[in-house]
Amino acid sequence: MADPRSAQQLTRFISFYAGLAPGIPVSPRPGLDATMIAAMRDEFRMTLEDNFREGSGTVREAFNPGYTYLNEALASHYEIGGVTGSALKKIPLTAEQAHWRGGVLNAALFPVKYANNHSTALVMRGFVIRNSLFCQTFASNAIRPDPDPYPDRPIGEREKWHINTGPTASEGTCWTCHKFFNDTGASMEHFDQLAKLRDTELGINEGYTDQEVPIDASGEFIDTSGGNWVDHIDDVRGIAEHVADNREAMMCLASGFYRYAMGARPDKSSLKTVSKARDTLLTDGDVRKLASTLLTAETMNRRLDEEPAK
Ligand code: HEC
Repeated sequence: MADPRSAQQLTRFISFYAGLAPGIPVSPRPGLDATMIAAMRDEFRMTLEDNFREGSGTVREAFNPGYTYLNEALASHYEIGGVTGSALKKIPLTAEQAHWRGGVLNAALFPVKYANNHSTALVMRGFVIRNSLFCQTFASNAIRPDPDPYPDRPIGEREKWHINTGPTASEGTCWTCHKFFNDTGASMEHFDQLAKLRDTELGINEGYTDQEVPIDASGEFIDTSGGNWVDHIDDVRGIAEHVADNREAMMCLASGFYRYAMGARPDKSSLKTVSKARDTLLTDGDVRKLASTLLTAETMNRRLDEEPAK
């Protein structure tokens, strides 16, 4: 684990866990060129490597580091002053900056990857958080009937999705799944499609696309069974702060690591080891320890003996 390559490996693993596999395609879009996207990828990778090299190595720090890696161009994209030069370096963030920037969900890469050229992809952001971090799976749904009409006032993305797929849309049939995506994705609405911060957006409905609508990213955060888990989050930082305490998320992380290291899903006998790893994660959150525990577990050796590497 002292080997610098282990920090790189754990960073690769967390990238997969976050739905941002290394090399995942991100196309340039208006306001975002390839150089800026490359800086965003570097920010994401270097911040995680720092955590695994000289930080606490915890899930909590991966999501809420309080620092990030920036160069002048990316800092100015974020409206953070005092950073010069083209090489990215570690930048400690003030409390206010650290609320918005830094960490797996709050670095630009996630909100930029899960967005369109001219708008955010609210449902997709929510879906990827649920699917990647919590291992929630959903049947695909082909039925997409005509939505209810929009009101005669400007509405934003969150309300659009609420009308189209909310609790009352199509007699509640959409909400069985969309209750997991819509509010979760809405928590990220302060990040536009370039990951710039905003407090308002332009109306999405005809006749109102030149009018500002205030953004409300707050709400409750439900658990994977749909029950109430966190009563109130202000925005996506609230999710970032709670991931490390969540059983499903830590089970997802532990089994994800097993899959990453072994190239196979945990079977019945290894599931015990993985569940134990989850419990350790819930108490100390150390991903380096998770790796060494799982990699030296008896079940791993047995599997390796039984199934020679392909
Ligand atoms: C069985 C689960 C499920 C149900 C029920 C469901 N959806 Fe979805 N929906 C998804 C998933 C998963 C995604 C995101 C991934 C994708 O696009 O396939 C999605 C995405 C969407 C999107 C695309 C979002 C975007 O960013 O463009 C639309 C539109 C949509 N759903 C409409 C509906 C409507 C309308 C209903 C109700 C009639 C509905 N869905 C019911 C699972 C569901």
